[in-house]
Amino acid sequence: MPKTAYLHPITADGIQPMASLGGLLREWLPRQRWFAGKDRPLTDLRLLSMTELFPGCLHLLVQTGQSGVPAPGGATPADDCYQLLLGIQEHLSPRLGRALIGRADFGPLAGLAVYDALQDPRSTHLLLERLRHPGTLGPLRFESDASVPVPAGLPPRLLDAEQSNSSVVYGDAFILKLFRRIQPGINPDLEVPVALAGQGCGRVPAPVAWFRTTHPQEATLGVLQPFLPGASDGWALALRALATGDTFTAEAHELGRAMAEVHLALASALPSCAHTDNDVTAAAMTERLEAAAHHVPALRPFVGALRTAFTALATCDPGPPVQRIHGDLHLGQVLHAGREWFVIDFEGEPSRPLAERRSAHSPVRDIAGMLRSFDYAARQRHPWRPEWARRCREAFCAGYADRAGWDPRKKHALLRAYETDRAVYEVLYEARHRPDWMPVPMAAIERLAVRGA
Ligand SMILES: Nc1ncnc2c1ncn2[C@@H]1O[C@H](COP(=O)(O)OP(=O)(O)O)[C@@H](O)[C@H]1O
Ligand SMILES: [Mg+2]
Repeated sequence: MPKTAYLHPITADGIQPMASLGGLLREWLPRQRWFAGKDRPLTDLRLLSMTELFPGCLHLLVQTGQSGVPAPGGATPADDCYQLLLGIQEHLSPRLGRALIGRADFGPLAGLAVYDALQDPRSTHLLLERLRHPGTLGPLRFESDASVPVPAGLPPRLLDAEQSNSSVVYGDAFILKLFRRIQPGINPDLEVPVALAGQGCGRVPAPVAWFRTTHPQEATLGVLQPFLPGASDGWALALRALATGDTFTAEAHELGRAMAEVHLALASALPSCAHTDNDVTAAAMTERLEAAAHHVPALRPFVGALRTAFTALATCDPGPPVQRIHGDLHLGQVLHAGREWFVIDFEGEPSRPLAERRSAHSPVRDIAGMLRSFDYAARQRHPWRPEWARRCREAFCAGYADRAGWDPRKKHALLRAYETDRAVYEVLYEARHRPDWMPVPMAAIERLAVRGA
């Protein structure tokens, strides 16, 4: 019998289980794709909550502390909270070998194997059972939209995607996203799709079940949504078109229409009373530019010219009112299925504070994100085909204008400011994570700087 009974009662200060788990997790956490603070050593690990989901499976929230100064933009705060699902077994079956985190040497779990339970179909099956039966378990609350039945026994598979969270697909019918970095409050990736579903917006898969914690603070932990079978993401489709020499203008046009629909639905679903204040936006963008240039010397020669993109905001047409937006829009966040575009992943940039992600912004920010993404796609091919990206850009904006009633192409100053801000973010991101990709945003920086000169 597994010795999980040792875990009861859960100690309030978490000292006992961490005697077993602390050393193992310190090694394992920084190696995970979704661990954000890879640039600095993990110096502290504290248990915030632990719940036995079912025998042999523990749900943990841990707080990490890291030494060193975080880089701006991709900033990891000094303390970060992560959600983990750990399996505990005496003898780990060989098929779970890759999931092994290690064997505990000390504490109440000494001698037992600790592994990543998301890689264990038995655990992910039981997790779905938990979601199918709303209720309370310690600090955890499992809730659902009772009007959408979720069948039992859907076979689980862990998605192997380049993700900042972890997702499990159930029988090609549902997908469960487990948030990895947890911030207090409702996650916009639950809040926004629920609100859009309330508006009858069919562009976003509507959550059917979710779970959250009430301890140590209220926070969203996971969302189950319908899976779009046979869907391809926009990034894969764009690269395919580039590889075969096809245009992507019809798709980009439809995507523009879809995005305008989502923005319109968002504006009525989550109204915001904030008024457009381009001065504040310009100041924040300038601050981000200067901080990025501090970290990335290659940016420095362009700072003067780029700053003009932001100062121009003070005098330009204020543009559309601010509202809730997607917050991290690019071709990887849109799915094409059954001839329609769908928009997913409303979490925003996970490195930004939740309050900022949930506040109102200009929809131009999302548009600029997508326009930059066309440029990224076009730059994946040699020779570079700037015409391909330019046509996508035109088509996307035209499609957007069709539905939104205003044309992004007529908002030059706004677009330039938001594209510059996005390119600055990209430079910082690539400098930290993918230095080989630096030429992509740097080419945009040069172009945007010349336009300002
Ligand atoms: N409803 C869905 N139907 C089909 N595939 C999906 C769905 N939601 C997400 N995916 C797949 O999962 C990937 C990651 O989802 P996403 O919500 O963007 O997670 P993350 O927050 O980790 O980026 C997507 O790129 C897509 O391939
Ligand atoms: Mg995503």
